Amino acid sequence: MAASKAASREKLIVALDFPTVAEAKAMVGALGDSISFYKIGMELAYGGGLSFAKELIDGGKEVFLDLKLHDIPTTVEKACANVARLGARFLTVHAYPQTLAAAKQGASGSGLRVLGVTVLTSCDDGDLIEAGFAFGVKALVARRASQAREAGIDGLILSAEELEAVRRIVGPRMILVTPGIRPAGAAIGDQKRVVTPAAAIGAGADHLVVGRPITQAKDPRAAAEAILAEIAVA
Ligand code: C5P
Repeated sequence: MAASKAASREKLIVALDFPTVAEAKAMVGALGDSISFYKIGMELAYGGGLSFAKELIDGGKEVFLDLKLHDIPTTVEKACANVARLGARFLTVHAYPQTLAAAKQGASGSGLRVLGVTVLTSCDDGDLIEAGFAFGVKALVARRASQAREAGIDGLILSAEELEAVRRIVGPRMILVTPGIRPAGAAIGDQKRVVTPAAAIGAGADHLVVGRPITQAKDPRAAAEAILAEIAVA
């Protein structure tokens, strides 16, 4: 039972989508030892979140830096090496072949795992055409998933809707991380396609990213515990 609790805790990543470190810190305090893995995105990162990431890591938490890097290969490689020195566990980069290869090089020999972002879920087929791509969303996700596999990238972040198809392309070893999770009955907010924690695990996700269903709950710790229980059953 204790082992399964620890295994469930390892699967749940709470998104600290706050503008200030003070607010993020208060949330981490409220969640206490129920949560061991946190995601820091661009909003908090540009508001002192990188120092806070270090503080979390020094305090024994795992950190996922969702920085979605994309630049010339040398810059990406050096940025990844610096994130690796910080001690973060996951870092996102856009899944362009050059960027994937550079990120892999920068993270090599460290505990940092690079996750590719295939196609932003805010883009539809029309947005991709507008941006000059010759592929629709489904085809581009599949193409980038197989390029990530060929590049030997550690994992991908993707919507639950894409999980089963991508798992078939990348095989069992790649780490698949999924946002857009809502426990049954929770407010959907601005997410368009949501799945329950149990359904995402069932579809092949290794980690779930959950923000508002926990951070905006009246009792964040109770909300987190309920999701952990659902993961344990799944
Ligand atoms: O509050 P909510 O559970 O919707 O938060 C989900 C988190 O996952 C946010 O930090 C959001 O930026 C991130 N995310 C997402 N969809 C993606 C990629 C990242 O919701 N495709």
